[in-house]
Parts: sequence; structure tokens; C-alpha cells
Amino acid sequence: MLGVLVRAALRPGMVKQCRLVKPVTQIPERSMVHQEGLPKLPVPPLKQTCERYLAMLEPIVSEEELGHTRKLVEEFLKGGVGERLQKGLERRARKTENWLSEWWMQSAYLDCRMPVAVYTSPGIVLPRMHFHDRQGQMRFAAKLIAGVLEFKNMIDTDTLPVESLGGKPLCMDQYYQILSSCRIPGPKRDTVVNHAIGKTPPTHITIVHNFQFFILVVYNSDGTPLTVDQIYMQLEKIWNSSLQTNKEPIGILTSQHRNTWGKAYNNLIKDKTNKESVRAIQKSIFTVCLDAPMPRVSDELYQSRVAAQMLHGGGARWNSGNRWFDKTIQFIVGEDGTCGLVYEHAPAEGPPIVFLIDYVVKCMQRTEIVRSPMVPLAMPQKLRFNITTDVKRDIENAKQNMNIMVHDLDVKVLMFSHFGKNVPKQHNLSPDGFVQMAFQLAYLRMYNVCCSTYESASLRMFQYGRTDAIRVTTADSHSFAQAMEDPDKQNAERVELLRKAVQIHKENTSNAIHGQAIDRHLLGLKLQGIEDLTSMPGIFMDTSYAVAEHYHLSTSQVGSKTDCVMCFGPMVPDGYGVCYNPMDEHINIAITAFNSCEETNAAKFARAVKDALLDMRALLEDTATAEQ
Ligand code: COA
Repeated sequence: MLGVLVRAALRPGMVKQCRLVKPVTQIPERSMVHQEGLPKLPVPPLKQTCERYLAMLEPIVSEEELGHTRKLVEEFLKGGVGERLQKGLERRARKTENWLSEWWMQSAYLDCRMPVAVYTSPGIVLPRMHFHDRQGQMRFAAKLIAGVLEFKNMIDTDTLPVESLGGKPLCMDQYYQILSSCRIPGPKRDTVVNHAIGKTPPTHITIVHNFQFFILVVYNSDGTPLTVDQIYMQLEKIWNSSLQTNKEPIGILTSQHRNTWGKAYNNLIKDKTNKESVRAIQKSIFTVCLDAPMPRVSDELYQSRVAAQMLHGGGARWNSGNRWFDKTIQFIVGEDGTCGLVYEHAPAEGPPIVFLIDYVVKCMQRTEIVRSPMVPLAMPQKLRFNITTDVKRDIENAKQNMNIMVHDLDVKVLMFSHFGKNVPKQHNLSPDGFVQMAFQLAYLRMYNVCCSTYESASLRMFQYGRTDAIRVTTADSHSFAQAMEDPDKQNAERVELLRKAVQIHKENTSNAIHGQAIDRHLLGLKLQGIEDLTSMPGIFMDTSYAVAEHYHLSTSQVGSKTDCVMCFGPMVPDGYGVCYNPMDEHINIAITAFNSCEETNAAKFARAVKDALLDMRALLEDTATAEQ
């Protein structure tokens, strides 16, 4: 998704100040050939975006608001402002590899001041593992680490297969950003550093157990990766030297509001030992969190509990301090068999992370622990932290805020087992469109209105492309959902409306992945206005714009081969975050909301989604039978 809210305006010159390493320098030469062969992200025609913007508003704003917005759009188009900003964007597009990517990285992620935990970092829940003790946990972790190192080898040797979407090759840059990188907090704005490109790329990962961090060097002196057996032995050493459970949860600092963490960070690294320890974590290839067991819950609640654990760790007295939330990738392996990961969103979207997971899971299936020759390995280094009074105060503050966040997050994972992509495909419908229409129907049934709905669409057909938005709520999706609730409508008509709505969704998806959606273009025009120091055009100060940007439903499809599900927090205080993995025969759906909002309820929405999916299948079957 997902860090899609532009929470802070960009000031001129900000991109240049950012310590972001230019992506182009991080890619091996062979990939560069592929990268340069990709088209550049286009700037859509201004008139087209304005027309599509008005059409998108139709179902979600009142007639009166729409009338007012029509006038503002006309002024924007005819008064010259729109044309001037458009020209500015086109100039930027000529001068840069991608006119959007740095702006996007800044405005969606690095300027966002909300905590990364829950608010922007997605989690991934892996299937439950059948170990219940520390040996099982470490054996699993050792295999997982070895699998990730195999994956890293494909990045290092530039042998990653190039992915494609709709038959077109995709930009692979994100794969070069996810290992050895870390977000760094700033008092006003964050940065991301990537250590893979330096003169001395890291050879270590970090392991955290009982809130204590360790450096685990994962390569032998000849450059070969440690075997699973060697990693297992090193993990045992780490475990045995971190048995105390009364350590300060230093990592919990990274879960704070970014301004608060930015200040606490400067405080923390005043001390030389602390600075070196923090740097070792930041520089590591990735982190593995060996979590303590969580409270047992019923089988029905298990997946939801794990999703919460991936997003926030369960709270200060559980595993929230067993993290460094700024680290791009943290794999989480619990003693009770829970496993998954949490990732910091700034450098990449979900699909590359899930591709990595699929690869690692496959490696793990074939890896058996083979005893390797007993070459003694050095004891992994424990990272020391001096906890001054100020640091202690910051930790206490972070613990309190984390506990508030934990109580506020409402999570429900729906493992929808009745059918998967197979059913819509059999009826010649796009599975993605079908599932999205079920969300629309569920929402209408719960609230009696439709709402602004976001679905991420990949822009990776273009050089350094990230995402744009598919506007799921359309006049057609609304007509379909209303017809389902209208007792006077016949099933034949409902099916026709469903087919039309799914078709329109498919067209909007195609527009989005081909760089012709409206959201990033509007954002670009707005940011261009800020850079040019022009007064903000009326269309961006309008109620309709605010309604359109307030996504009560923030959704994303992240498909995988592994039976997992990604989850993320809602984008607005009174909305839902919905991520789904449509498999062939079932669909995994993670729904989040905030408990502080009386109107939302993740479990209730999940029930409404389940009912909607079942009713829609019944509708298709009913009309198919009638046609026979
Ligand atoms: N009849 C039968 N089958 C159909 C069909 C129809 N009318 N329409 C589509 N299908 C098939 C497709 O061929 C495809 O087949 P496959 O399973 O063999 O690959 C399958 O159904 C899925 O297609 P669809 O459901 O339409 O979705 P999609 O795969 O095109 O995905 C997006 C749509 C928007 C999810 C995708 O384009 C995208 O952008 N993904 C990235 C999302 C992202 O970056 N998220 C970020 C999260 S942090």
C-alpha cells in the first residue's frame, strides 16, 4: 500500500537534502541494462486526469460539493495554473529517471511522523509452525537465515529472475533496497541508508532475544555463507547468553512517533557505545527477532493474534521491545511456533518481500540440517547499551505509547475457506475485481453508504516505479452494491451490474498500472505548485479533495505462493486496512481498524465480507443455472 497519506507538505529543495542514496548506483551493471530498457513513468494528460477525478468523486460526494468542484476544476484547466504546473511536471519528467519516486518516498514515508509500527510498516503472517520449544525455534530460524542468504546471493550475483506483469518486464530496483538498509529517524524528517553499496558491505545480521541485540556474522572468512548447522550453533550461543528477562527494551524506542524518536535517537547516540551498537543494527543485512511465547488463544483467534504480533509485538511486556522497527526487514520467530515478519515500508512494496518469502520457504523445505565439520566460530558479539537517565525516561515513555497503540489496534484475519480465485475465474470475472466488489458490498451493508476506497496498483512497469491508486468505488460498484440490497431487483440484473462493475475496475486497474491513474498525478501537480511557490490551487483546498483522500477503505492485494497474509493498519482513524491474498481455493484476508473509533469493528467487517463473498457466489451460481 500503503503509506499513502501525504501527511506533510514538501518544501522546495527537500529532495536534494535527503540522504537517500540514488537507486541507480545500487544496481549491478547487468540489471542496469534491464532498468534502462524500461519506459519512464509518463505524466498523464491534464484534461484526462481532471475528467477522471470528477467521475471518481461522483459516488462519494454530494451533488452540491460536486457542482462546486466542477467549477474549481474548470478554473484550474482554463485559468492557466493547471497548464503551468503540468509543464513543470513534464520538465521534471524529462530531467529525472522518474518524476514521482523521490517525491513519493518523501511525502508518503519519510515525512510521515506517525510511528512506523502499526501505521506504515506491514506485517506478514506465515503459516503456524509445529514447534513449541527453543530447539524448534532455533532450527527454524537457522533454516530461514540460510534461505535468505541464498536469496541474497541472487541479488549479489545479479541472477534474480526479472518479474513481469501483463507480459511486461518489471523494475527490479526494490530488491536492491530491502537488505542491508535501515530507516534513520530525524527530528522532522527521516532518511533511509543502504549499506549494500558501500566499500564494505555488511557480513552480519542482528539477532534479538529477550530485548538483547547480537551481531551474528553469517559468512566464513572465505566468503561462503554459514551452513544451517553453523547458524544453529551460533543461535544457541546467543540464546544462552541472553537468558535474563529483565533487560531494558531499548528497541521499543523505534516504535515512537517519529519526532519523539528523532529526539530520543540523538540523545541515545551521544554515548559512543550506544552509537556503535545502533550503527551495527542499522548496517546489518536484516534482523531476526527470537520472540518469547505469546498468550495462548483459541484456534479461531490465532491468526489475528499473530497478525497483531507482527504489527506491534504485543506490547511492552511481550515482544514490542524485541524489535528495531526502523530495520527494513525483521523476521519474527516465536518460541510457540508463530512466525512471520514486519518490514519498514519506505524502500519497497509488499510484492518483492513476498517473493523473497516464497523463495525462502521453498529453500527451507529442502534444507535439512547436516552436521558440518566442527570449526569453532567466534562467540556472536552482544551489543551494549548504556542506559542513562534520559534514555530510561525515553524507554518508559515509549512503553506507555506502545501499550496505547496495542490496545487501540483491532485486528481480524479471515481465512475464507469456501472458495478462492477459482470461482470468479470460472465465471469469467477478474478475481481481484470480484473480491473488491465484495468489500464494497460489505461496506454498504454496514454503513449504508459507499466510501473512498484505495487499492494499490504497481507502477513497476516503469523505471523506479512504486505504486498508484486504483479508485475502487465507482458509480458502477455503487449501483451493484445497492442492487444487492434492493429487494425489487432480480438476480439477472444484479449479475449484469456486478459484471459491469468488475469490468470498470479492470479498466481502472489497467489505467493505473500503465501510469494513467489520477492520484499520483494530482499529488505531483500539488507538489509542483509547492516547489514553484505558487498559491495552492483551489481544487486542492476543496472539501471533495479531502473526502477523496480520506480512505475509509485502504486495500491491497498481495498474492503469494505461500499460504500467508500481509496486514497493515488503517490509513485514517475511522477506516479499515484490508490486505488479501487470493489463493486458488481460498482467500486470506487481514482486516484492521482502531478500537478508539466506535464506528469500526474489524471482526464485524470480516463477517460482512464473508457474507458478501458467499452471496456473490450464490448470485453467480443462481444465474448460471437459470441460463442453462
Ligand atoms: N476471467 C478469467 N480469469 C481472469 C479474468 C477473467 N475475466 N480476469 C483476470 N483473470 C485471471 C488472470 O489471468 C490472473 O490469472 P493467474 O492467477 O493465472 O495469474 C488472475 O485471474 C488474477 O487476475 P486479477 O484478479 O484480475 O488481478 P491481477 O493479478 O491482474 O492483479 C493488481 C491486480 C491490481 C493486484 C495488480 O495489477 C497489482 O498492481 N499488484 C501489485 C499490488 C501492490 O503493489 N501492492 C502493494 C502492497 S504494499
